Amino acid sequence: MSFSKKLKQLLTYTPDKNNWDGLIETYKPWLPVSKKTPIITLKEGATPLIEVKSISNRIGKGTTVYVKYDGLNPTGSFKDRGMTMAISKAKEAGCEVVICASTGNTSASAAAYASKGGMKSFVIIPDGYVAQGKLAQALVYGAEVLAIKGNFDKALDIVRKLSEKYPITLVNSVNPYRLQGQKTAAFEIIENLGNAPDWLCIPMGNAGNISAYWMGFQEFFHAGKSKHLPRMMGFQASGSAPLVEGKSISNPETIATAIRIGNPVNKEKALLAKKESNGKFSSVSDSEIINAYKILGKEEGIFCEPASAASVAGLLKIKDDVPKNSTIVCVLTGNGLKDPDCAIKNNDSIFHTGIEPEVSLISKKMGF
Ligand code: F0G
Repeated sequence: MSFSKKLKQLLTYTPDKNNWDGLIETYKPWLPVSKKTPIITLKEGATPLIEVKSISNRIGKGTTVYVKYDGLNPTGSFKDRGMTMAISKAKEAGCEVVICASTGNTSASAAAYASKGGMKSFVIIPDGYVAQGKLAQALVYGAEVLAIKGNFDKALDIVRKLSEKYPITLVNSVNPYRLQGQKTAAFEIIENLGNAPDWLCIPMGNAGNISAYWMGFQEFFHAGKSKHLPRMMGFQASGSAPLVEGKSISNPETIATAIRIGNPVNKEKALLAKKESNGKFSSVSDSEIINAYKILGKEEGIFCEPASAASVAGLLKIKDDVPKNSTIVCVLTGNGLKDPDCAIKNNDSIFHTGIEPEVSLISKKMGF
């Protein structure tokens, strides 16, 4: 092997998933941990970056689109990246109880990591607006669940007050350790591509993840690990798009319940990421989200949750703005299995039910 080839291999080195100790061990020098920090991990991170030709082809112009499939984390969403940090730091500080407000994924992740760390967790969720899989997870992981008659914004307001008043650690993305952990997804993308993408397309709810990615891209860029910075392209559901409309939404609505948020706490950070990266925020309708969700499932074999599909829906919406020969990464934040109701209601597949168990009958149904 030539020297330059070997050098390229070294520079684009990707950690080996078989010997993977989780993201804190892997990215220790980049994270606010010390020898004293007890590392609470479920071996999160190292999720695949998958090329999606069906999306590249819809854009044309020599575009290469990848998805960062973060739905393959231990509890099925990107929240695990932040939670391993938040829970490890809470444990280091001697905390015994954690709390979060959630549209579902944060609660699943907080519950799992709290249990792993021997802590109790309380989760406050909007009653009736959390996908079944996420609720099941929080219960199985042993959280105490409080479903309120109000939306996520109200729930967040309540947990902030509770954590000020009682000895409970708040593990929503206002906890700075969350974003520290989440920035590692940007590191992995740069390691996989050998550079930053031209665009990063990402769904936004409370706007923590876009802020975390921007931090990660900047840190690796300044360390000389990428040649440029990506444009940060953030997407919200049109019934729940405070960052696009420039004002809080009091009654956010969308099929993508994970991002049904009207008053994002990380608004300022996200707006800065947009400004500094020359990015763009846009909204996508529920039907555009479902269209992208179906394409990913049917043409790519990738099952993500509706909120995640907003990143691909957004890219397809603004495809005319894509410069020639671009490399684009869309973040798929959560696993499709989280929301089976949505999946059963929104697909174009044929589903025969109540069939007599006879070969002749079944073969006829199959068209033979
Ligand atoms: N995608 C999924 C699947 C999510 O669960 C969330 C947020 C987002 C995108 C948006 O990320 O808030 O950092 O902008 N879910 C939170 C929760 C609010 O409670 O699980 P963000």
